Amino acid sequence: MAADVARPAKLGLCVACHGDTGISRIPGTPHIAGQDEIYLRKALTEYRDGRRHGGPMNAAAGGLSAADIDALAAWYAAQRWPAAAEGTP
Ligand code: HEC
Repeated sequence: MAADVARPAKLGLCVACHGDTGISRIPGTPHIAGQDEIYLRKALTEYRDGRRHGGPMNAAAGGLSAADIDALAAWYAAQRWPAAAEGTP
């Protein structure tokens, strides 16, 4: 976990499904650890604005401000995906 990224205030809205560090334990829920920050920001904005439909994500992102989205994207982008870091496909 990157120590230089502040823990987002709204992280609690996400951890049940994506975990603290972006590694999901629920079938059908994507791992988002280490994902591209710009992509994460775009995905969350599109879910929030109803331009992307993703089951629980529209409700989960519905109340996020732009600052919340920036903080969450930075947090998850800064996490390591252990298997990927080890070179495991
Ligand atoms: C109830 C479970 C649940 C919660 C809570 C939840 N998610 Fe998700 N998330 C999902 C599922 C399921 C998908 C796949 C949706 C789809 O098919 O587009 C997803 C997709 C995503 C994606 C897109 C990943 C990609 O590769 O395109 C991002 C980013 C994301 N979630 C971030 C978050 C953040 C940040 C929060 C907290 C604000 C959150 N999620 C809360 C279940 C959840």
